Formats: sequence, C-alpha cells, structure tokens
Amino acid sequence: MKSTTLALLYIVVCTPIPWLAGSYLAEARLNADEPQPTPLPAGELGRVIELGREIVEHTQDHPLSKPYVGNSLNCTSCHLDAGRHPHAASFIGVATAYPAWSPREKRVVTLQDRTLNCFMRSQNGMRPPVGSEVSVAITAYITWLSTGQPIKQNPEKPLGPNHTPDLAPAKGNIESGQALYAEHCASCHADNGLGSEDGPPVWGDQSYNDGAGLSREAKLASWLKVAMPQDDPYLSDQQAFDIAAFVNSHTRPKFRLSEHLPEPDRLGQYNAE
Ligand code: HEC
Ligand code: HEC
Repeated sequence: MKSTTLALLYIVVCTPIPWLAGSYLAEARLNADEPQPTPLPAGELGRVIELGREIVEHTQDHPLSKPYVGNSLNCTSCHLDAGRHPHAASFIGVATAYPAWSPREKRVVTLQDRTLNCFMRSQNGMRPPVGSEVSVAITAYITWLSTGQPIKQNPEKPLGPNHTPDLAPAKGNIESGQALYAEHCASCHADNGLGSEDGPPVWGDQSYNDGAGLSREAKLASWLKVAMPQDDPYLSDQQAFDIAAFVNSHTRPKFRLSEHLPEPDRLGQYNAE
C-alpha cells in the first residue's frame, strides 16, 4: 500500500518536471542574463566549439591564435566571461545579427569578417586567413552562443542584440578622470596603465590600438559602465566618461590597415581538404 502511494506521489510530483525543465531551457537560451545551458553538439563540431572557447580565453598564448596577436590581451579581456557576460561586449545572440552592414568597412560583413577585424584592431595583430582553423573555431563558438535565438540581421551596424548599451553623449574631463583612475582602477591596471597580474594593460604598446572600438571615448565609457571595476561596476555615466577620456589620452599603437593585412594569398583559404 505504502509503496503504491509513494509511486503515485512520484508520478504526480515528477512527471511535469521534464516538461518544466524543457521550457526553462528554451527560455533561458533567449535570456542574455542566464548562462547558456545548451549542451555542446556531438562529435567534431563540439570539439571545435570548445577549441574556440579556449582560444577566446587564451588568445595571446594559444598556438593557433598567438601568431596573429600583437598585444597582451585576450578576447575575454573585453568580451568578459568568454563573451557570456550579459552586457560587456556580449557574444550572446551575436550570430543572429550577421551578415550585417558595417559603416566602418562600408560593406556587408560576415561574423567571420567581424571576428578577424578584432584581431587587427583590439588585438593589434594580423588578420588571420578566412577559413583558417582559428577563425572557424572562434566563429563556431560565438555562433553556438546564439543557439535557439531567431535570426535578426542588423542593417545599421555590425552589432548583436546584447551589445554594450550606449550612454547619453557626454564629454569626459581628463583631470577628474586621472583622480578617479587612481582611486578605482590603478590597483589592478597599475598607476602607469601598463597592467599587473591583476589586470591587463589599458594603454601603451601592449594595449588595443587607436583603430579599436575602445579607443573611442564613448565606446570605452559605455563598456566601463557595465564592465569595470571588475565584478562590481558602479561608475556613474560622467565618471565613466572622465575615466575613458583619461585612459584614451595616453599613447597606444597607431592603426594602419596595411600593417595588419597579410599577403594577398594569405587573406583567405579554401575551407576543405
Ligand atoms: C580591447 C578590447 C577587445 C578585445 C581584446 C577584443 N574585442 Fe571584440 N569587440 C570589442 C568591442 C568594444 C566590441 C563592440 C561590441 C559592443 O559594443 O558590444 C567588439 C566587437 C566584437 C564582435 C562583434 C560583436 C557584436 O555584437 O556583433 C565580435 C564578433 C568580436 N568583437 C570578436 C572578438 C574576438 C574573437 C576577439 C579576440 C580575437 C576580440 N573580439 C577581441 C572589444 C574587444
Ligand atoms: C579588481 C581588479 C580590477 C579593477 C579594480 C579594474 N579592472 Fe579593468 N580589468 C581587470 C581584469 C582582470 C580585466 C580582464 C578581464 C578578464 O580577462 O576576464 C580587465 C579589463 C579591462 C579593460 C579591457 C582590457 C584592456 O586592458 O584594455 C579595460 C579598458 C579596463 N579593464 C579598464 C578599467 C578601468 C578604467 C577601471 C577603473 C574604473 C578598471 N578597469 C578597474 C581587472 C580590474
């Protein structure tokens, strides 16, 4: 008797759970605030996605990406939590926006193009060939982070649905930014901005170049607003602009496109055996 009651109870209590779990997963995939619960696809595709995540986290050291990196940053230095941060240059949902119009390139660009351009600017390095192992692995990983989300190609800019929210335009004050930097940032990024074991360089030779998104004051301010200080961003909009003005008042590598493009025959490669 007792065991039948228990069995019945089990059926009543537990039957809806798989259904509930299913709908929770479906919803969570659409919600950028949740970590992506999607399991990796089986086989070689899953392996390549995992490889892409590793490269995003260890870009300056990974043997596949190292030859194309010109500073001591990794993709995850700005695309926090390997791109899974909900707001700080989030990769979640990004694949749904491409191919997208790029006012900077004056072209419709693919997700692969966009990824490779970050190597030339934010990573101050060389553009890896289209279809190379490093390029395919990173874009496979970023695409996987859009699992379950509807395609919505962006006709205005190469940005996904969870891109860093813009702030109302303002002008930063370098002097006030200097004091704020000393108080809120120097403990990890060092007084001289060249970084420490607690934070990467924010200016100088080993930082992003002046063609990178973050070299624009408004972009850096909006990113700082949601990203820094690490794990506890609390700056006001004006403080974010002041610090951005101060950080970007320092020297960093100059971007000259020709220095970041490989020989023409290395621009792309046939993506098959
Ligand atoms: C110095 C900081 C920095 C580094 C390093 C960096 N990026 Fe970015 N990247 C950005 C910013 C800022 C944006 C603009 C995104 C935003 O505003 O949300 C961006 C945009 C992108 C986008 C388009 C996102 C979208 O919403 O459509 C992709 C894809 C991308 N980066 C890939 C990479 C990859 C791959 C690497 C490593 C090889 C990398 N980035 C390294 C700062 C960086
Ligand atoms: C507790 C340490 C810490 C503090 C404080 C901190 N950061 Fe960071 N910051 C980091 C780390 C670590 C990263 C790289 C993130 C990663 O790899 O996950 C980073 C990344 C960055 C980046 C992008 C990568 C680069 O180096 O260009 C910028 C810009 C930046 N921080 C600026 C600031 C500013 C400005 C402040 C002050 C408002 C600040 N940070 C406060 C630790 C810190």
